[in-house]
Amino acid sequence: MFGYFSAAKRFLKSLSSGRRPGDRGRLIVRVVAREEANALVAAEIAALIRARTAAGKPCVLGLATGSTPTGIYAELVRLHREENLSFANVVTFNLDEYLPMGPEEPQSYHRFMHEHLFDHVDLRPGNTHLPDGMVPVGQVTDACAMYERQIREAGWVDIQLLGIGRTGHIGFNEPGSAADSRTRLVDLHETTRLDAARDFSGEANVPRTAVTMGVATILEARQVILMAFGEAKAAVVARAVEGPVTSAVPASFLQTHPNTMVVLDEPAATGLAR
Ligand code: F6R
Repeated sequence: MFGYFSAAKRFLKSLSSGRRPGDRGRLIVRVVAREEANALVAAEIAALIRARTAAGKPCVLGLATGSTPTGIYAELVRLHREENLSFANVVTFNLDEYLPMGPEEPQSYHRFMHEHLFDHVDLRPGNTHLPDGMVPVGQVTDACAMYERQIREAGWVDIQLLGIGRTGHIGFNEPGSAADSRTRLVDLHETTRLDAARDFSGEANVPRTAVTMGVATILEARQVILMAFGEAKAAVVARAVEGPVTSAVPASFLQTHPNTMVVLDEPAATGLAR
């Protein structure tokens, strides 16, 4: 009974504040089954691609790698094959790449993107961008500035896809990353390297550094979609969504973004109090 009244009160309060039930601050949180999450997010991306194409304009996507977005890429490939979704008008920018990392190496994010998306749709090769994992350390700053320039010249990112690391990272913006950080060389957190150890047959083989879009670069996207699946993400999702906005949890900066949707499955949402 009490539960019913408090839920009703929350609902009425959300109406009076102009927000919908499920909103967290500025964040919109959706908790759905993983399959449904993939379909929902892919449909959102496809709708934007189609609208931009109809208007004769490019659509700029910010892309993530890792286990979280693989189902979205599979669904986008299906939409391309079965429902005529064309990527001819799409420009992509990936969040990050290990350094050093050759594009053909098995763990490279270049390779990941080709395997999961680029090789299966009609994206123009010149329209895909990832940070260069082979850039000599002395030239990283220039390469990062060029990446920022390319994003700007493309008209900024329309939809940025994000996963979240157990450290609270978005891209490879580990704890301590500032809100105004831009594309740069970063050190990977030990937990991040531990989580990557399986892909590299042992933590000792995981690179210590990477190039990542900055927090500010990510926040410039017109729309952000952060996804998290599984219980291992529950604690950090709660800190990112309901905790204070702090560089200790870089994903919490998304609370300051005007158009961010957080898509979770039930296990990833178990830490949320509200
Ligand atoms: C990947 C990236 C990372 C991952 C995060 C979650 O390009 O930027 O922030 O999104 O580490 O990884 P998964 O999805 O493997 O749990």
